[in-house]
Amino acid sequence: MSGDLSPIDKAKFVAAKRSVDYVEDGMRVGLGTGSTAAWMVRCLGELVRDEGLKIKGVPTSTRTAELAREVGIEVVSLDEAKWLDVTIDGADEFDGNLNLIKGGGGALLQEKIVATASDQMVVIADIGKEVETLGNFPLPVEVIPFGWQTTKSLIEEMLVSMDVLGRDATLRMNGERPFVTDEGNYILDLHLGRIGNANQMAMVLNQMPGVVENGLFIDICDVVILGYGDGRVETRDINEGTVQEDRLDFVESDNLFTDLGD
Ligand code: A5P
Repeated sequence: MSGDLSPIDKAKFVAAKRSVDYVEDGMRVGLGTGSTAAWMVRCLGELVRDEGLKIKGVPTSTRTAELAREVGIEVVSLDEAKWLDVTIDGADEFDGNLNLIKGGGGALLQEKIVATASDQMVVIADIGKEVETLGNFPLPVEVIPFGWQTTKSLIEEMLVSMDVLGRDATLRMNGERPFVTDEGNYILDLHLGRIGNANQMAMVLNQMPGVVENGLFIDICDVVILGYGDGRVETRDINEGTVQEDRLDFVESDNLFTDLGD
């Protein structure tokens, strides 16, 4: 059944499969959001069911919470868990310093809170997510619905003095209506092309009234696991300064490969 997967899905799957090696019995685990993270949740669920792995999972969205429960992972809130051993999540872009853009799925706020409350953040991604400079992927910014148009204008004005290529901000839509996050907020996607100083951008955005959080994850990620469509996996650890390569075989598993979807 894995033969039906596209190369990109295989890449996501092998990265996810490798990432669960970071999870040990008794750990409190942050569960990311998105299509790659969904594979990881399924892989963890399989370990819980088949090997008796005991973990507490803290999901970063209602979608992930539903999937985690469905596959048999015990779900607790961050306040119950208090601190996490590891968070495993996807990303929209990452650079050579393992700084990230996240929030393509709209869960950046919970994702950042959960990742920051973890001893270690492991990102799982396919090779298409690697960039030299962040910013080609539109930067998601979560804003309060009240006065969002004013907040958008203020952001666009602020961008004039920043080292970026584009300055358009668009309200994320869900059909005819604004997309609403799990926290009841809106998302502005900033089409910047290139973010010359991501650290400065992250700090300036978060100082603006109306902005709740931005999708730049600076100095949060410790490890990126890169999957390739042919089963190769590359693990880059920024703290250890190591890069490891190996290969995973696709193992047929009806539990994992049926009922796909994010
Ligand atoms: C969710 O809000 C995002 O941060 C995701 O982690 C990111 O968009 C990656 O998603 P995929 O794994 O689906 O590419």
